[in-house]
Amino acid sequence: MTATHHFDVLIIGSGAAGLTLALQLADHAQVAVLSKDQLEEGASLYAQGGISVVLDQADSLQSHIDDTLQTGADLCNEEIVRFTVEHARNSIEWLIDQGVSFTKDGITSETYHLTQEGGHSHRRIIHSADSTGREVETTLLGKAQIHPNIHLFPYHIGIDLITSRKQLNHQDNHCLGCYVLDIKTDTPLTFTAPITVLATGGAGKAYLYTSNPDVATGDGIAMGWRAGCRVANMEFIQFHPTCLYHHKAKSFLITEALRGEGAKLLLADGSEFMEHFHPQAELAPRDIVARAIDHEMKRLGDDCVYLDISHQSKEFIEAHFPTIHQRCLGFGIDMTQEPIPVVPAAHYTCGGVMTDIYGQTDIAGLYAIGETAHTGLHGANRMASNSILECLVFAHSAAQHIKQQLPLSKDIEAIPAWDASRVQIAKEAISVSHNWDELRRFMWDYVGIVRTNERLHKAQQRLKLLQQEINDYYSQHRISSDFLELRNLADVAELIIISALQRKESRGLHYTLDYPEIDNDHPPADTIIAGKS
Ligand code: FAD
Ligand code: SIN
Repeated sequence: MTATHHFDVLIIGSGAAGLTLALQLADHAQVAVLSKDQLEEGASLYAQGGISVVLDQADSLQSHIDDTLQTGADLCNEEIVRFTVEHARNSIEWLIDQGVSFTKDGITSETYHLTQEGGHSHRRIIHSADSTGREVETTLLGKAQIHPNIHLFPYHIGIDLITSRKQLNHQDNHCLGCYVLDIKTDTPLTFTAPITVLATGGAGKAYLYTSNPDVATGDGIAMGWRAGCRVANMEFIQFHPTCLYHHKAKSFLITEALRGEGAKLLLADGSEFMEHFHPQAELAPRDIVARAIDHEMKRLGDDCVYLDISHQSKEFIEAHFPTIHQRCLGFGIDMTQEPIPVVPAAHYTCGGVMTDIYGQTDIAGLYAIGETAHTGLHGANRMASNSILECLVFAHSAAQHIKQQLPLSKDIEAIPAWDASRVQIAKEAISVSHNWDELRRFMWDYVGIVRTNERLHKAQQRLKLLQQEINDYYSQHRISSDFLELRNLADVAELIIISALQRKESRGLHYTLDYPEIDNDHPPADTIIAGKS
């Protein structure tokens, strides 16, 4: 018999998207927020550059829209782009009202410093020095922790969504909640709610090298897909051009804002190379910069390239990039004096669970927001600093939509409890960790920055074997959080590979040597995979 918890709204994920939604709803409903790690852990905490918003007199909403559309390589949904850009200012003002402190420009006490990043034709990135995510996440979490209607559940991992079709054999598909594993006590629980929200972040951990934290295993995308949601554009995995290259540095990003402040990319001999690849050189969209670096590293057989901001004063660097400066010093690199060794790494999942403008998915009562969702904002390539913006804007619109449905029904249908009776505890964890490593390595080697049909098919074959093992293990053993994440990563890898094979062109972040050109003979189209059940 598993314990059941009932709430009005169940939010799976406590990053910028989940916490914004929880705070928006908390005065009106009882809200549960789950996090599979400590509450602040997630990509939001590590965001550096900032959040894009039009604040400068010389800038315009249309320019932000045009830059987003152009970076997205003709695959963005223009209505969604306009909606997001037009709601950016309100979202930032809401953050400031919550107590988030952004770096001022020092010109007046009211005006903010705006930085620039790839793809943006103006300075429009509001930030808190180089740790914007920490400021946003900890401020929102502080507010959530003291709200009486927000119930926080750290170290609780969602296993699978509970749907009326799967659990109750109904014709319609309505989400009723989620089966959850309490990681600390190893107990399966049932969480029920008339409304469930996937806010579980991205899937960078599908790749060997990533800027993402360990929690980024695509759980929401996998759970949504297994429950019957369509998933779109999973081939568009964004590789950030500049992560620190050091044998002891795990997933440390060197923000694009350095390039916005004039940092140059250099080869080992000190020569610049980006102007050979794009007129915007270091400030070209991310896909172009990452591919250029990959190309130069392969051409020269080098392990990394270098990023040099030493033309700026020590005072400027310490004031604008204190976190990166300190972290680099910890590895013996003084960025005020010398270039930083950098490599590309998987950074952002542009595709995800398909939603409408309110975050609604294909399943009644199920929403998806933040990096887990595919709203249509990013198209074939997300523009820098548009992601936290998307988390905020769509958490607000989902909140409006949910509030209109209040009061929510208190009726709970009888839901079968999680059945763990037939299975035994695994004797050893080695096969799970081995499969984690294997999956991340073949995804990096075969489904990375430059793809071919042959490489994608090789990855597909390996994945099939691995999924066989995962299914066998699942039917015989008690689940652990590591195993659940592996199962989700395998589903996400399948979605990425199928989507990449379906796209017979190179567009945005998807580059294949078999179809190196953009397909101009057909109108641009999303890659849509039907839900699994
Ligand atoms: P996250 O913040 O990743 O939160 C996910 C939450 O879901 C976590 O609480 C996690 O524990 C929980 N979770 C996951 N699976 C489960 C499960 N099965 N059960 C229970 N809980 C679960 N974007 C910008 O716009 N500007 C930037 O400057 C920027 N810098 C970045 C720097 C780095 C290093 C990285 C990695 C990303 C950066 N991004 C940036 C991208 C941006 O940070 C993320 O896209 C965004 O923060 C995602 O927020 P989220 O709320 O969707 O997910
Ligand atoms: C960065 O600071 O370079 C990351 C910004 C982003 O991913 O939007």
